[in-house]
Formats: sequence, structure tokens, C-alpha cells
Amino acid sequence: MTFVQPLKIGDFVCPSNLVLAPMAGITDTPFRILCLKGGAGLVCAEMVSASALKYDNAKSVKMLQVAKEEHPVSMQVFGGDAQSIALACKRAQEQGADIIDINAGCPVKKVNKAGAGCVLMKTPEKIAEILQAAVKSVKIPVTLKTRVSLNRQENLAPLLTKIAQDNGAAAITLHARAAVDIHNGEPNIKFLESACCVAKIPVIANGGVLNAQDAKAMFEAGAQAVMIGRGAIGNPFIFKEIAQTLNGAQFTPVGNTRKAEIFLALVEENVKFYGEKVGISRSKKTVGYWLSGFNNAAAVREKFVRCENLADAKEILSLVIKEKQ
Ligand SMILES: Cc1cc2nc3c(=O)[nH]c(=O)nc-3n(C[C@H](O)[C@H](O)[C@H](O)COP(=O)(O)O)c2cc1C
Repeated sequence: MTFVQPLKIGDFVCPSNLVLAPMAGITDTPFRILCLKGGAGLVCAEMVSASALKYDNAKSVKMLQVAKEEHPVSMQVFGGDAQSIALACKRAQEQGADIIDINAGCPVKKVNKAGAGCVLMKTPEKIAEILQAAVKSVKIPVTLKTRVSLNRQENLAPLLTKIAQDNGAAAITLHARAAVDIHNGEPNIKFLESACCVAKIPVIANGGVLNAQDAKAMFEAGAQAVMIGRGAIGNPFIFKEIAQTLNGAQFTPVGNTRKAEIFLALVEENVKFYGEKVGISRSKKTVGYWLSGFNNAAAVREKFVRCENLADAKEILSLVIKEKQ
């Protein structure tokens, strides 16, 4: 059985059904480009607040930027108000998004207080209203990202899948964990499977995928695509690794020295994209993932998180590269 294949979302065809998850603070332009090179068939941007966009918040507006080398890209918006969401969708389309995703799964308090994220799962009629407004406002496909349950006990996945497809969503991403579990614990494959059974739109399965075996379990549950979050941080080649492994080809793992070289190139891209201060601070967030399994990883990471500019960062990583890990 061929699991990894192109993915059709509405009229839009992604070259593969292995998708980079939206991750705030992580999935910006430099990292999205890296994941496309690593074989992702679609990359998702960090969630952007619809109400912040309404007030032209400069940081949020920058988050909608799409570089020419980063397609296919999905821009994710969050909010509790259908009109603001519709406006945000229009802006994301104008900026060059291929797909727009609506967040109905985020458990962060600040997001939930605004009536957005996973609290929407309590009021499926609100999700319906938001989706209808979003779909009406743009020509590109709109998708929904939510969770299989709020509390581990009650399976909401089939209901939310029906709400999504009946209100114009072109696909649904199901994070197969309960909202109370945030990002921890095993994905609930049974809940996922129950949604795949009723779905007339593609189900993109998410949660805990770190290798080909994990992805296979999601495909076998009936998912048409698999979304990878933390498994791609420090390992953007995971998409190729899963595709080649599941399609019976040999995958040669990327060695640590090469990983350090790629991380250094990413740090340089971050500095180009954000300027030195923010670029270095963004790079610090993921250094632990990149250096995992290296000799003296803890000591190098300690040094890296204290560096203040690109020259320092280069010096630290060049030493690691010279050491031939
Ligand atoms: C640091 C971080 C930031 C995240 N930001 C978002 C976000 O902006 N939008 C969203 O829908 N999910 C967000 N998520 C959830 C991920 O998209 C994904 O559902 C979750 O990490 C589970 O997938 P994984 O087990 O493969 O990491 C975030 C997760 C992490 C760890």
C-alpha cells in the first residue's frame, strides 16, 4: 500500500501528504523553507491573531508574509469572532497563502480567553459560523485544525469532522490528543479512526509522530495525511525519512556534523529575516533539538543560549562542526 502520495485539499494539490504542523515561535519562513527542502508536502505557519490583524499589529502583519520559495504554505488564523476571521483570511490570501487554516484546538489560556482555540470545541455551532464566514471571504481552500476531545473521555472527532465538512472546510486536521493533555501523551488512534470513517474530506492526523512507524499507524487508521510538529524541530529531514521508509526505499540518516552545518545556516537565515537580536533569540529556542545526541550537547547548548550575536553563534557552531561529531 502506498501511504505517502500527493494530497488534494479542495482544488489545491500538495506534492505529498506529509505536513509540517503550525508551531508558534518555530514555524516561521526560514524554518518552513528548510522543511520543504526536507520533503514536507505542505508547511503551516504560526497562528496569527485575527483581532491583532484587524488593528494592524506590525508583528502579526509580518507573520503573514510568504516568501516565494515557501509553497505550498498554509497560514493559520485564530479568533472567536467570525467577522475578524473573515478579514484575516482575506489578508492571508492577499499575502500569497495557498491554504488558510482555522485554529480550534489551541489550549493556551490567553487564546482561550479571547473565545478562540480549543474552547470553540464546546460550541460546534460557533465553529460552523466561523468556517462559513472564512470560506465565503476567500477563493483558496479553508481547513480546520482541532482535537479529538476536550477531556479524554468524550470523543468529539466525528462530530467536529461533520461540522467541518458541512460548513465548507476542505480538510480537517485532528490532533489526536485531548485538550487537557496539551501536547503530551499517546495519540488516541481509536478516536481518530472514528472520524476517518465519517469523513468526506481529507483527515490530516497529528500527534506524537516521530518516525515512519508512528506515521503508518495514522495512515492505517484512515488518515489521508500526517502532520508532524516537534519531530521536525532539529530534524527537518523527517518528511523524506518517513516517505522513503514507508515507500520501501533506503533512507540515509543525516549525520550530526551535517546537522550542525544546517543549523548554522538556519541561524544565519534567522538573522537575515529578523535582524540580529530577534534572529539569535529565535535560534536559541530550538538549539536543544538540533544538538540532541551530540557529544557535549549540554555544554554547547549552555554556551549557545548565552551568545549575544551572530559572530558568537558562528564561533560556537564552527567548533562543533570542526570536531566532526
Ligand atoms: C511550541 C509549539 C507551538 C505550537 N503552536 C501552534 C500553533 O500556532 N497553532 C496550532 O494549531 N498548533 C500549535 N501547536 C500544536 C502543534 O501544531 C501540534 O498539534 C502538536 O505539537 C502535536 O504534534 P506533535 O506531537 O507532532 O508535536 C504548537 C505546538 C508546540 C509544541
